[in-house]
Amino acid sequence: MLKVRSINLDYAEALKRNRFYHNDDPVSTHFFNALQTVFPSGERFFIDLARDSLVEFEKHSDKDPSYNKLKENIHGFIKQEARHSKEHGEVAKILEESGYEFIKPLMERQEKLRIHNNEKLSLHWRAAFTAAVEHFTSSFAYMVLLKDSNIIEKFSEPAFSELFFYHAVEEVEHRCIAHDICEKMGVSGGLRAFTFLLIILDQMINIRLRQRLFMQADDKWSFKYRYRAWKFVWGMNGIAWQMMPILLSYFKPRFDPEKIFNAEEIACINEQCENYGVEGI
Ligand SMILES: [Fe+2]
Ligand SMILES: [Fe+2]
Repeated sequence: MLKVRSINLDYAEALKRNRFYHNDDPVSTHFFNALQTVFPSGERFFIDLARDSLVEFEKHSDKDPSYNKLKENIHGFIKQEARHSKEHGEVAKILEESGYEFIKPLMERQEKLRIHNNEKLSLHWRAAFTAAVEHFTSSFAYMVLLKDSNIIEKFSEPAFSELFFYHAVEEVEHRCIAHDICEKMGVSGGLRAFTFLLIILDQMINIRLRQRLFMQADDKWSFKYRYRAWKFVWGMNGIAWQMMPILLSYFKPRFDPEKIFNAEEIACINEQCENYGVEGI
């Protein structure tokens, strides 16, 4: 059963102390700021899909008890994503109030797009998109928790290391839910692969664009900073290359998100959970 962890972190105080809260570095901090402005609306999109799939599955659960376990997990998934969305939304609001005024119109546009997509796309497409982003986030969590744990240690402010650590743990824990929804709905492999390609492209463009807006607002978009921003993602040890093997596993014919993490890796994550005082998986 999915756990709903509670956290209580003071982001405003942390940002007041050090607005470049990751490694005292505007490049990596603004990469994480870009993520914090993308998450809230994206996670509401997943919740909408999860709620609508519950209505759909309600029709079948009398005849097939296998739906009951999934329905229980979907409830947990909704609660976890709602909390993530709330926490990152709070950070986005503080950032906006601290002078990054472009955040508000950007997030409002994303909200309009979410509502538009909910109206125009079928449940199959919405499930495929949600599963694609969920694989993207669990690949990011894999990189953060297992490939390059330094990325968490490099947060200069504990409020943000705890926020990203806790979020990564729950992404690992609920990595199968959107995939299970797709399986139950009979979403085709072709549609899943196609939406995943769109999502990779969208995330690359969207995160880079937002990181750029943050850095421009701080007058840090010179060639030197642009090169460092590129290197942070695409350099030798950049996050893109660390995520790549897991990302690409989505295209395997019998892809199973459960198998992304083996027992040893889950044990390693749980060990880190003890250090952070976060309930393990
Ligand atoms: Fe999340
Ligand atoms: Fe998620």
